[in-house]
Amino acid sequence: MNKQSRFLLQGLAAAVVAATFSAQAQTVKEPRFPVNNPQPVEGQYVHVPPTMQDLEEADLHPELKRVIRRGHDLFMNTQQLRGKNVFNSMNCSSCHMGEGRLPFAGPVWPAAVVLPNYRPKNDQVNNLEERIAGCFSYSMNGKPPAWGSDDMVALTTYHQWLAKGVPIYQPGKSMYGRGYPKLPDPELKPDYARGEQVYRESCQLCHQADGGGVVQDGEVVFPAVWGDKSYNWGAGISRHFTLASFVKHNMPLGRPNSLTDQQAWDVAYYINNYERPQDPRYTGDVKETRAKYLDTFHVHTSYGLEHDGKLLGEHDNVGEKDFLKPDALIRRTYTAD
Ligand code: HEC
Ligand code: HEC
Repeated sequence: MNKQSRFLLQGLAAAVVAATFSAQAQTVKEPRFPVNNPQPVEGQYVHVPPTMQDLEEADLHPELKRVIRRGHDLFMNTQQLRGKNVFNSMNCSSCHMGEGRLPFAGPVWPAAVVLPNYRPKNDQVNNLEERIAGCFSYSMNGKPPAWGSDDMVALTTYHQWLAKGVPIYQPGKSMYGRGYPKLPDPELKPDYARGEQVYRESCQLCHQADGGGVVQDGEVVFPAVWGDKSYNWGAGISRHFTLASFVKHNMPLGRPNSLTDQQAWDVAYYINNYERPQDPRYTGDVKETRAKYLDTFHVHTSYGLEHDGKLLGEHDNVGEKDFLKPDALIRRTYTAD
């Protein structure tokens, strides 16, 4: 893609985003959340995270502000860690939209107030650094920065800043717009051909016909939705229900909630039936890996299932990295020896 068409596309994306938010900003001053999202239900905790503008005005030590800014910068442009911790064309903000602040787009502040907590995915108690490490290992197809390193501390500090004012530790409390809340079950079984049609009409312009997105001068313009530059088979969003919800509430960019639920399920099924880097939990056998993590995970993915005559995930391709599983992941034992 040449520079001119890149600017054209970026301009287009910026214009749709501006249109969505400004229309709303005129009517409701705060919260500045996308139109048409479901409303909070009775008893749900609603939080409007502070902005980077609020940070400049906040009465905090200059050094703390500096580290929060660094965390924000890493979150928005995680590509600066490409080849070190990130091995695909993603930023944290590719999925945690609106700087990690938006409800229904995986806002990250809840993690700062509910962790440490038990996590079924790795069957142990995780703190905030370990939760972030999970997204590095799967969503970014990479490996986490070292525990307690400058980058890890900057990221956790940014998460904590977004949680400003939220009461800590409210087990069982429902938080408005947390994660990517599940859509109602689809009326019709999600369908590949219907999903392909949605993709062509509403997604391909930005994410491209080969799903590879657009990266220009080391900057992610449009992230990859499948293939080597996308998230791997162990990423949370490779589950159909998670992707369907993300898409419904956030895509096409600038037109959140414009697809029907059925279209969101269909296009999610379509995207998540493409190949992507191997699940870091791979045992060497895709069917065995699927079975091992079936209940907690792969029951919701197409990994290890047949599509178009091929078994999805049956390969040794780990994308751009040269390892399968990051060796930094912690396995807790609590034995007394
Ligand atoms: C490819 C999409 C994707 C990318 C990129 C991504 N994440 Fe995530 N993240 C997810 C999904 C999916 C979840 C689980 C949400 C849910 O539980 O519904 C999640 C959850 C989280 C949570 C827990 C939120 C909570 O409610 O407890 C944190 C914290 C987090 N991510 C941080 C990060 C950071 C930091 C990065 C960048 C290093 C990142 N993520 C990159 C998809 C992504
Ligand atoms: C106008 C351009 C545009 C259109 C159209 C668009 N997207 Fe996106 N999409 C983006 C951008 C930009 C991001 C990253 C979010 C950010 O940086 O704010 C993104 C993020 C994503 C992500 C998470 C990151 C990743 O690559 O996995 C998925 C999945 C996704 N889009 C799917 C879709 C689907 C499905 C459609 C069609 C229904 C669609 N998008 C339409 C621009 C677009």
